[in-house]
Amino acid sequence: MEPNQLRSEFLNFMEQRGHKIVPSSSLVPDDSSVLLTTAGMQQFVPYLSGKIEPPYKRACSVQKCFRTGDIEEVGDNTHHTFFEMLGNWSFGDYFKEEAIKMAWEFLINFCHLDKEKIRITVFKGNEDIPADEEAIKLWEKQGVKKEWIFKFDMEDNFWGPTAKTGPCGPCSEIHYDRGKEFAIRECSIKGCGPNCNCGRFVEIWNLVFMEYNKDGGYQLLKQKNIDTGIGFERLVAILQEKNSAYNTGLLQPLIKELEKKSGQQYDSQKKTFRILADHIRSACFLIADGILPSNLDRGYILRRIIRRFIRYARLLNLTGNWYLSLIETVVNLYGETYPEIKNGKENIITVIQKEEEKFGRALAKGLKELEKLQPIDGVVSGSEAFYIYQTFGFPIEMIEEELEKRDLTVNSNEFELESKKHQDVSRAGAEKKFGGVGIKNAQNKEEAAKLAQLHTATHLLHAALRQVLGDHVGQMGSDINFERLRFDFSHQEKVTAEELKKVEDLVNEKIAENISVKKEIMSYQEAIVSGALAFFKEKYPTEVNIYSINSFSKEICAGPHANETGNLGHFKIIKEQSSGAGVRRIKAVLEQV
Ligand code: SER
Repeated sequence: MEPNQLRSEFLNFMEQRGHKIVPSSSLVPDDSSVLLTTAGMQQFVPYLSGKIEPPYKRACSVQKCFRTGDIEEVGDNTHHTFFEMLGNWSFGDYFKEEAIKMAWEFLINFCHLDKEKIRITVFKGNEDIPADEEAIKLWEKQGVKKEWIFKFDMEDNFWGPTAKTGPCGPCSEIHYDRGKEFAIRECSIKGCGPNCNCGRFVEIWNLVFMEYNKDGGYQLLKQKNIDTGIGFERLVAILQEKNSAYNTGLLQPLIKELEKKSGQQYDSQKKTFRILADHIRSACFLIADGILPSNLDRGYILRRIIRRFIRYARLLNLTGNWYLSLIETVVNLYGETYPEIKNGKENIITVIQKEEEKFGRALAKGLKELEKLQPIDGVVSGSEAFYIYQTFGFPIEMIEEELEKRDLTVNSNEFELESKKHQDVSRAGAEKKFGGVGIKNAQNKEEAAKLAQLHTATHLLHAALRQVLGDHVGQMGSDINFERLRFDFSHQEKVTAEELKKVEDLVNEKIAENISVKKEIMSYQEAIVSGALAFFKEKYPTEVNIYSINSFSKEICAGPHANETGNLGHFKIIKEQSSGAGVRRIKAVLEQV
């Protein structure tokens, strides 16, 4: 079965069983305590925790996910940074029995997997949470033999929460026996099964019986939920009878293109080819969701991914614009399922090009600087390594590799501490930078009204920029005084005169339409689910205001705003300039007409 077909067949299957098809959420999660979306359930946390009444009781999705915990393993048969998850959810509706029945039906009756090869794992219980005897019975009811059901502890069979607190529960995993010929190492263990490191068994589906909330200890939730996730890449590999997703239609086209570009054979350097294919795909997805390379948080993850693939490309003697046709291949493979990849293509190319140039310059300087380090007993201090990392943007593993060549190592604990210190300082700075609109400084009603008008104009400008330049545009900062508004936003290129004119016209069009500015109060999670834009996630209280200017603009914002757009005057952009790497700044005024 082809990947596109499998995605839609899964969604159809679940839709026929009463699930609402929900689009994948962004790789940038709403929960600010989590860097990237690592599982399909993240967008549903408010429903799973019972904090928000869901608009539907059952949902299913194909979700973009990203995990960096295993980045060193990428290149083997089963690890990827970016991957997709197929999932189905019940929010206080069906529970174990139906979830197990549906999973079985999909895999055995629909995908025609051999049921003799299915192995199951369940939670064996501990002092807080009892063993899952019920799941064992339910699997037996489907025809799974007792000896094919394995019990494991918390580490393997308890899922979540994704943040420090939140919904979680015991889980039951479905594994598939790919046979001895697929094992990566010899194994003579009698009754070898899931979790044996011979690699013969592949986990394909995780069913989480989400009935707990973790907040210190474990409390029972008001409702019993189901959260499931199929590793899409793994299921595709099994259905296409390949030992790895790298050899399926999901990644092979990228590997073929790399062979063509480099003139070298995949079989001769599998790991390098696989890392390149994985990282190019994941960089495209990160950039398409608005992330830019930086030395902080998710920006750093992207920087690390791009710089890693540039280094691996050199091993295949790939230089110049070799990645252009690979980006094109990613667009061909994924553009239909994820339109942001197709629409973001030009932006993806620019971001990668700029990062490559920057890396080239930093590399030359940084390598010189490495020679000046003063290691003690062969160990470079964390602060010295952090200096190289921060000043020259060398990913930490690259510093380690370069030092290894010189028989040196880094004190990595010290490095972590330095890095943490730096992040705390930057966060505090960002919060200060993105303060409110400053209405409290207004001396009289007229001044207050002017500030509110400029604030509304800022929302119109933001929406217009996204419409003209693309969805990668996001607010990076905003400042208003009585004369003008200033707006910083993510965008790589200088905005052309023609684009500026389009933006200006669009804003003035919305002013002419005299649209009323609507304010609603809702919980932060609800606001996000309703599609409102939010930018400084750390700062929002649980209850937020949403300001909408019909369907054109919808943002979480403290306000205040004009009551309608008609009295704003004439919007005019007076300046467009750079405001840091990948950030542009616009200053604009409202002229009285
Ligand atoms: N949340 C679970 C997982 O990611 C099931 O979807 O494995």
